[in-house]
Amino acid sequence: MKSAIISTAAALSLASGSLAQTYTQSRPFKLVVQSTDKSVNNKILEACHEGAGIEGLCVENSEKLTSYNTYVFNTTSGTVVSDQNLGPTGLLIYELQADKTNGEKTPSSQYSPSNLTTLPESEPMQFFSDPSTNVALPLFEPTQTGQQVGFDKQNKLHVQSSLNDTVDPPTSTKVRGLYRWYVCKTNFEGYVYETLAWVLGNGKPENPTCKKVDVIRQFEA
Ligand SMILES: *[C@@H]1O[C@H](CO)[C@@H](O)[C@H](O)[C@H]1NC(C)=O
Ligand SMILES: *[C@@H]1O[C@H](CO)[C@@H](O)[C@H](O)[C@H]1NC(C)=O
Ligand SMILES: *[C@@H]1O[C@H](CO)[C@@H](O)[C@H](O)[C@H]1NC(C)=O
Repeated sequence: MKSAIISTAAALSLASGSLAQTYTQSRPFKLVVQSTDKSVNNKILEACHEGAGIEGLCVENSEKLTSYNTYVFNTTSGTVVSDQNLGPTGLLIYELQADKTNGEKTPSSQYSPSNLTTLPESEPMQFFSDPSTNVALPLFEPTQTGQQVGFDKQNKLHVQSSLNDTVDPPTSTKVRGLYRWYVCKTNFEGYVYETLAWVLGNGKPENPTCKKVDVIRQFEA
């Protein structure tokens, strides 16, 4: 019991240490979908309402840059770059502004802007996964921690991993970029949209609406 308490304290001090990190924030950019499926190719990803202060990445036609479809990338100077083609990892961020809350797509009746008095909120992307499915959802939420992602030399959004658990024993391999992005009709707590999704593991999505895509970062010229 005592060792459990000590390790909790150590974990807490590690966590607060990581919160003290200083970030370098990129210029704003948009995220464009590339796919062999014409119905989603060249569409952009726009933040859409999935709950109070929670945004998904919805597929939209609009090309005009608005506060709903621009994002930033936060990196820390201390990050070790494992692969120059993959580049550094960091947090993909949506900045929820006070003036955006009313314009959010389909605000729900339960949605209360008064919950968001500390706006603007710098929201990192993290994966939400429901144990029943291999289709995870990238969501922006008002937290400090998020999923580490990268943009490679072709500006393709990816996740870096060195885990190989398809062998016995599971091993650590050379860092590789994973591009397991799909656009699927998803249902997060009743919000049904065509959104960006991530498939867990090296298999096919079980959701039949999923279309394989790449996600490209595009800065304004
Ligand atoms: C991203 O970086 C900016 C600039 O350092 C900082 O203000 C913001 O809180 C960071 N966001 C997150 C989620 O870490
Ligand atoms: C949001 O605000 C409403 C009323 O302003 C409150 O009833 C509700 O509990 C709040 N929800 C959260 C998650 O704080
Ligand atoms: C995992 O290891 C096996 C055996 O060495 C290899 O065949 C496979 O390609 C590796 N997978 C990855 C993703 O590195």
